[in-house]
Amino acid sequence: MRKKKRSSPLPLLPLLLFFFSLFPSSTLSAASDGDRQAMLDIAKKLANLPPSWTGTDPCQWSGVTCRSGRIDTINLALKGVSGTLSSSISKLSSLSSLQLQQNQISGPLPSLSNLSDLETIFLHGNAFSSIPNDFFTGLSALQSVSLDDNPLAPWVIPADLAKSADLMTFSASNTSINGEIPEFFGTLSSLQSLRISYNNMTGGLPDSFGGSGIQSLWLNNQQSPTKFSGSIDVIGSMTQLSLVWLQSNSFTGPIPDLSKLGSLASFNVRDNSLTGVVPPSLTSCLTLKNVSLSNNQLQGPYPKFAGGVNADIDKGNNFCNSVPGPCNAVVTALLAVAEGFEYPLKLATSWTGSDPCGGNWFGVNCDNENNINVLNFANQHFPGFISPDISNFTSLTRLILSNNNLSGPIPDTLKMLPKLQLLDVTNNNLSGIVPHFPDYVTLKLGGNPLLGRTSGSGGGSSSSSPSGGPSESSSSGNQPSGSKSSGAVIAGTVVAVLILIACLLAFFYSIYRKKHLRRFGQVPTRTPPNEPELGKIGVMGREMGEIYRQSSPGSANTFMIDPQGMHMSIQSVRRATNNFSEENILGRGGFGVVYKGNHNGTLIAVKKSRVDLAGNKGSNEFKAEIDVLSKVRHRHLVALLGYYDDGNERLLVYEYMPGGTLEQHLFDYNNIKCSPLTWKQRLTIALDVARGVEYLHSLAQESFIHRDLKPSNILLDNDMRAKVSDFGLVKHCVDKQKSMMTRLAGTFGYLAPEYALTGKVTTKVDVYAFGVILMELITGQKVLDDSRPDGDTNLVPIFQRNIVNKDEFLKSCPDPILNLDEEACTGLMEVAELARHCTARVPHHRPDMSYAVNKLALLVERWKPATGNEGRGDASPSFQPQHWG
Ligand SMILES: *[C@@H]1O[C@H](CO)[C@@H](O)[C@H](O)[C@H]1NC(C)=O
Ligand SMILES: *[C@@H]1O[C@H](CO)[C@@H](O)[C@H](O)[C@H]1NC(C)=O
Ligand SMILES: *[C@@H]1O[C@H](CO)[C@@H](O)[C@H](O)[C@H]1NC(C)=O
Ligand SMILES: *[C@@H]1O[C@H](CO)[C@@H](O)[C@H](O)[C@H]1NC(C)=O
Ligand SMILES: *[C@@H]1O[C@H](CO)[C@@H](O)[C@H](O)[C@H]1NC(C)=O
Ligand SMILES: *[C@@H]1O[C@H](CO)[C@@H](O)[C@H](O)[C@H]1NC(C)=O
Ligand SMILES: *[C@@H]1O[C@H](CO)[C@@H](O)[C@H](O)[C@H]1NC(C)=O
Repeated sequence: MRKKKRSSPLPLLPLLLFFFSLFPSSTLSAASDGDRQAMLDIAKKLANLPPSWTGTDPCQWSGVTCRSGRIDTINLALKGVSGTLSSSISKLSSLSSLQLQQNQISGPLPSLSNLSDLETIFLHGNAFSSIPNDFFTGLSALQSVSLDDNPLAPWVIPADLAKSADLMTFSASNTSINGEIPEFFGTLSSLQSLRISYNNMTGGLPDSFGGSGIQSLWLNNQQSPTKFSGSIDVIGSMTQLSLVWLQSNSFTGPIPDLSKLGSLASFNVRDNSLTGVVPPSLTSCLTLKNVSLSNNQLQGPYPKFAGGVNADIDKGNNFCNSVPGPCNAVVTALLAVAEGFEYPLKLATSWTGSDPCGGNWFGVNCDNENNINVLNFANQHFPGFISPDISNFTSLTRLILSNNNLSGPIPDTLKMLPKLQLLDVTNNNLSGIVPHFPDYVTLKLGGNPLLGRTSGSGGGSSSSSPSGGPSESSSSGNQPSGSKSSGAVIAGTVVAVLILIACLLAFFYSIYRKKHLRRFGQVPTRTPPNEPELGKIGVMGREMGEIYRQSSPGSANTFMIDPQGMHMSIQSVRRATNNFSEENILGRGGFGVVYKGNHNGTLIAVKKSRVDLAGNKGSNEFKAEIDVLSKVRHRHLVALLGYYDDGNERLLVYEYMPGGTLEQHLFDYNNIKCSPLTWKQRLTIALDVARGVEYLHSLAQESFIHRDLKPSNILLDNDMRAKVSDFGLVKHCVDKQKSMMTRLAGTFGYLAPEYALTGKVTTKVDVYAFGVILMELITGQKVLDDSRPDGDTNLVPIFQRNIVNKDEFLKSCPDPILNLDEEACTGLMEVAELARHCTARVPHHRPDMSYAVNKLALLVERWKPATGNEGRGDASPSFQPQHWG
């Protein structure tokens, strides 16, 4: 910032003083008349000046230096000066440095135009009220400007500044700048530091930034409604950058490859809408010291930075997991598809968590076996290209990409999708040759002027090869090119392995621990037709009052009336859910959709079954749920408010549970913007669940077995109290002691071994699943997780192995986020013992649910006095955007 052309004025000063002491009044060295008059004008308008500013020769005033009788520098920094700045300043034509920062000078800034020697302007931290248009006109020597923190009237950065070719530093944060970043900041070859934070600016990063020499870039916290927006791609070619502060703006798109930035130290993009996978060039950047990524829509694996990096990453992003490690294969492949589309925000916001079939992943549809069968991204204006990785979804039947802005070719690998029936790419900008798809694939290719055809068919409804080449085979085994056929072979192998696993399942329980995706979903079985179906959806509900049943469950056809006066007709349910609008969807499953509704101010959750698809099986599940819920009432079981079935439409109505699922809070708290559950909350949730299940097991006349206990079926209210939901698989057993043979149902990971092996179901099946949930509460890890070291995908054996050595266990197993003290550790060990007990291999070695209730109740009791006021906020820093710069 110091000027370099001139020798420093400081050594000159004693010399000047010496001369002045010899010749007190005017000499050669005294200010010229013009400058003297200008300085007197300036002094007259300012207040609280240093005492020396009363003398007649300005060259003797403190903070003023002269050269050859001309005023050279004025420095009144931090002197408590007030008043206004006279426009006579523009007459000091030899002025090289004006430093008035950190005072209380107010009023309009005068023009400094034509001060062609002026190199330094420091005016920050005053109360200047406006800046004239020609402020920077003709400042050809300008090197450093700081205007920060002045309450200026809105202004735009004048184009004249482009002529200050030596500009090194421009700093004007918090000065009410409007407009966009001028292109010339990218072409000023000396510019090293640009700071325009806390203004009212809009627009994107100029292309001219690519290749600029800027080292420090502060653009954070724009106050305008739109802020800075668009992509930050150009950052990847700003090779000199060491500091990048873009936080609190509206930037979108992915973080670019940063490998060309050789000295990046501080990278803050917090509070934007960035999407995509955090690039390895950032996580492995060796010069990086501080990084802040929170509150974006970043996707993919949770990033891992080196130990010395000060990293803020874990709030409000959409990483597929909450600790470093790869995403599962389906998510990875979908991310590759999103990457092709340049990671659109719409996909980033809806593709959260790690289960594309379980939630509400935009454009993704799954079949009953949790394989993706439809990808539909019609009418999204997505840019980019069609990712060849789409061919990894071997169950895909329909791929719909119409009305986007996709360019590039249709990937050749798509023709190997064995089940593809429809490819619709109408109205894009695709080019290249259309691959030879099998005859049964319907192709819709219109509106792509650059797309070539291999076949003569002009309509594009289907393509067949007219050439005499190898006849098109619809099987995927014998494609010509090597790499393509290896893809097909792999796809074929995947299908074969799937079938093999399904077959072996009945015989050999441990097969499901082998690496395969499907195991994470529901248990696939071929079912007798009158069994409840397997596709499950999470239901959010809460009891409101007694159910008043108007008809028997067998002929479920009526809506119920709540005795508290809540009467719902099918019309009012439609109204409450905005006619089942897309915005109201809380969750989606193989069988239907759960909608949030607002019924005259009461929040409800409506589970709507797709009768067409569900058929008889869905009907049975529907009736089973009504049957159970009309017989059981418990504080820790969700209750039904009503149901409706007219043969076409089946609805179940619950009160809304605002807290979401235990699964979200345990494994996905970043995405739902919550802090992790504390140990006490986990303990309380465990007790709530145990009580709900105990009640189910111990009803007087008949006992119910839930069969599908898992964190996604445990719903929470605002106080983090839990209720068990989803009773579609509940089994009803008259004699509690006897086991029953049933079709296998439930979810891998939570299935008791004897049940998986033989289909025999007793209440101990629920006890086992409860034990698994306890393990997840303790460790914060999912029961099945591919990313664990040593290929140990199942948590249960690891847990049982580790618990043998208590000290080792406490060191390595509990969720690191819990941060437990010694007393809590003792309690945790007891819960861990209970978890081990509940997951015993032999069913009669497992305790009853009532044992678990007693054990947990004692522990919760013990916790109360010390931690009465334990809030949720304690485990994490605040969500407020940080005030950086
Ligand atoms: C600056 O110089 C230009 C031409 O040299 C002149 O037209 C203009 O009036 C000057 N501005 C001021 C404020 O003196
Ligand atoms: C902006 O400047 C004003 C003074 O003009 C100051 O009071 C305020 O704290 C500054 N805001 C920020 C965010 O720095
Ligand atoms: C930004 O502009 C709005 C009006 O568009 C104004 O109210 C606000 O004070 C401005 N903020 C800053 C920091 O200049
Ligand atoms: C990194 O952050 C720490 C603490 O927030 C701060 O003291 C340090 O100056 C920062 N370093 C850089 C290079 O921004
Ligand atoms: C798609 O499958 C191929 C071959 O099976 C594999 O190499 C590739 O990594 C997969 N792509 C993604 C994104 O998972
Ligand atoms: C479509 O993409 C091209 C670049 O491939 C871009 O120039 C154009 O603006 C985009 N059109 C729309 C409507 O987004
Ligand atoms: C279509 O893509 C070509 C390049 O493949 C590009 O030159 C053209 O501008 C694009 N057209 C539109 C309308 O985006």
